[in-house]
Amino acid sequence: MSVAPRSAVTCDPEAIKSRIQARTAKIGVIGLGYVGLPLSLLFSEQKFAITGFDIDKRKVDTINAGGTYIVRIEAKEIQAARANGFTPTTDFSRISEMDAVIICVPTPLDEFRQPDMSYITGTAENIAPHLRPGQLVVLESTTYPGTTEEVLVPILEKGNKLGLKASRSGMVDNDVFYVAFSPEREDPGNTDVARHDIPKVIGGLDAIAGDLASAVYGSIFRQTVKVSTPAAAEMTKLLENIYRCVNIAMVNELKLLCLRMGVDIWEVIEAAKTKPFGFHAFYPGPGLGGHCIPVDPYYLAWKAKEYDFQTRFIELAGDVNSAMPYHVVSSVTSALNKQKKSLNGAKVLVLGVAYKKDIDDLRESPSLTIIELLKDQGAEVSYNDPYFPQVGHGRHYNLNMKNTPLEKLGDYDCLLIVTDHSDYDFKKIVNEAKLVVDTRNATKGIESPKIVRC
Ligand SMILES: NC(=O)c1ccc[n+]([C@@H]2O[C@H](COP(=O)([O-])OP(=O)(O)OC[C@H]3O[C@@H](n4cnc5c(N)ncnc54)[C@H](O)[C@@H]3O)[C@@H](O)[C@H]2O)c1
Repeated sequence: MSVAPRSAVTCDPEAIKSRIQARTAKIGVIGLGYVGLPLSLLFSEQKFAITGFDIDKRKVDTINAGGTYIVRIEAKEIQAARANGFTPTTDFSRISEMDAVIICVPTPLDEFRQPDMSYITGTAENIAPHLRPGQLVVLESTTYPGTTEEVLVPILEKGNKLGLKASRSGMVDNDVFYVAFSPEREDPGNTDVARHDIPKVIGGLDAIAGDLASAVYGSIFRQTVKVSTPAAAEMTKLLENIYRCVNIAMVNELKLLCLRMGVDIWEVIEAAKTKPFGFHAFYPGPGLGGHCIPVDPYYLAWKAKEYDFQTRFIELAGDVNSAMPYHVVSSVTSALNKQKKSLNGAKVLVLGVAYKKDIDDLRESPSLTIIELLKDQGAEVSYNDPYFPQVGHGRHYNLNMKNTPLEKLGDYDCLLIVTDHSDYDFKKIVNEAKLVVDTRNATKGIESPKIVRC
């Protein structure tokens, strides 16, 4: 590949940076889900006329009509963005109009708990034919170290019509596009930290890509943190999530011990939290949920095998955390037993199917496993969740249930608190119930012999 003299370069990254400053740069976000839609809105707030790409026509139509499909995003935010030029589309040929495209597509596990890269490869194949010189492509999806260079770049290089290569030399050239990885670090439902206050980690394939990505994200985030390679940025995200996964497993294990010893783990954590250094509180629960913590560590465990390496902390944490729903069901069984009832035939109302409080996301939610286990044992199970009028079927569950109103609570043999949504009035729930099994310490401060904390 020949390096063009600066005067002959028509795709000067400095020109893109100027357009970013002037807010005339064209930025495309691919995948308008929990990550991509809020990201599009952040750009829109900063006066970029953003283009959103998705293969799901229903989402594109909803945004076009000024509507929303994510509870925490209000329709008026979508409408304000639309007025600012936010255009959703399923037409990937419009990629060629963009200065930068940011990929926010899913990275789930397949049925063998191995990385399902089909969304990333599918997106790369959709982008490649429309690539033009000087464009920046950023991957945000959580994935194993090496994905950007080993999976994304080869598809983009092979599939583009102009024979463009990803820039690796740090030199400005006419025949290249730029590539970076920058992980999404959002914590859904966390209202303590504004999204633009979460520093954005960026690993460019070369220095120009890193600088360009920094300029793009610097326009919406208060701080960008550059690391030396895409793999370092990919690993940063995994370190953060594995840290959570392992610590949650540790505290879940300690909870099981505390239950046997008659010690209140929640009280212990509150006391330990008063240490001003060296301790960060993690909380036990009914099992891991969400698209990140139960999934991402397995991306690394899978990749590590290529290096003949066993990620033992990840496997152990996975064992402990995935046993928690079983612990919940056995706690319900013994609580009923103490009332001379069996789980078989018992009427159980599960409170909360979302994987954590106050969000409308049930991916990998422990509630789904718990409901299935309870049903398997012959319980008559209903659920209540203000965020889910119904629960159909997904990759790992097939429930086909409808939300049950919070009425006649005394008719149930057991109310099982799995998600501690703020909407719930736990005092009232305990008052009306025959038996409450609480997996979240939601009934903290309420004294009643009807409560079993597990
Ligand atoms: N949800 C979170 O809180 C969170 C936090 C940090 C990181 N992440 C990571 O971000 C990534 C996206 O997660 P999400 O929660 O937004 O997923 P999501 O399922 O909510 O959204 C993904 C979107 O991508 C679209 N899509 C799928 N294939 C596509 C394709 N080929 N072209 C265009 N669009 C396509 C889907 O229709 C969907 O709208 C994942 O890798 C996830 O691990 C998510």
